[in-house]
Amino acid sequence: MCSKPETADRTKSGKGNPVPENTLNDLTGKEWIKRTKSWFICDSPRYHRNRDTELHPARFPEEMVAQFVTFFTKAGQWVFDPFCGSGATLIASLEQERRAVGLELAPRYAEVTRQRLAELDTDGIAQVILGDAAELLKLDLWEDCIACSGGRLPQFDFIITSPPYWNMLRHSRGGVHSVHKQRAEAGLDTHYSDSGQDLGNIEDYDEFIEAVGSVFDQCQKLLKPEKYMVVVAQNLRVSDGYVVPLAWDLARRISTSFSFQGERIWCQDSKQLGIWGYPKVFVPNYHHHYCLIFRNDK
Ligand SMILES: C[S@@+](CC[C@H](N)C(=O)[O-])C[C@H]1O[C@@H](n2cnc3c(N)ncnc32)[C@H](O)[C@@H]1O
Repeated sequence: MCSKPETADRTKSGKGNPVPENTLNDLTGKEWIKRTKSWFICDSPRYHRNRDTELHPARFPEEMVAQFVTFFTKAGQWVFDPFCGSGATLIASLEQERRAVGLELAPRYAEVTRQRLAELDTDGIAQVILGDAAELLKLDLWEDCIACSGGRLPQFDFIITSPPYWNMLRHSRGGVHSVHKQRAEAGLDTHYSDSGQDLGNIEDYDEFIEAVGSVFDQCQKLLKPEKYMVVVAQNLRVSDGYVVPLAWDLARRISTSFSFQGERIWCQDSKQLGIWGYPKVFVPNYHHHYCLIFRNDK
């Protein structure tokens, strides 16, 4: 279970208060240091799950997002997620008293996010935009964006996101009770969409890395100088038995427009183990993701 992120409890006194020189977040020194450990465990608590959010095949937990939102922003600042899916980033940001904008290509996930925001009565401090992340610098995309003023591109304080993990959702590893099959039987999505703009539908790996890299090149223009971006990704074992270092390849590609600051490893401790290679070969059960941390220094 994810430890509850410590929101800025300003009732604390003395050395518990954040120092005035802290320009990054509202955390105390003790809270700050705890968040610099390079790994953390976070499983998806049940209370954010329902039929609508479960429709999306690859969500990340709101509590995981909150760990980073509270580290890399202060209350009231703006957060952006260019692949927002069913809205975990927006919900987590609102819960932590931040403002947020998400972009999503698939209309049905954008709608799930919209409904979730409507339930929270957000009073215009969070918004989902339906659109293609390949076109982030086109002004038309931001026409009605609440974070924009004067027909200019918005400038965010923090970006957190998770791109499609290549075309992995298109390739079930099978097994009698694979998650893929269980989801298909339950009428839940097993991939995002059939759109030609969906980055999860690109077959060629190098082309995929370049397409995702180009989205992050554009993100650099939407992030204030010296602010941070977290990209959640995973290395993948593909169905014909070799491992694709997706997280590492993305770290290298994104480093052309951002400066790489290191990673925190998000561990999932309650996922069921699959019996993949036993009793002949080593096959890892990938129950961790890399949260790759970048700074806009370029
Ligand atoms: C890994 S999921 C993100 C899930 C999200 N973090 C959540 O918790 O719901 C990647 C998302 O990127 C979206 N996507 C794929 N191609 C896109 C594009 N070109 N522009 C915007 N979104 C895209 C997919 O529809 C999918 O919802």
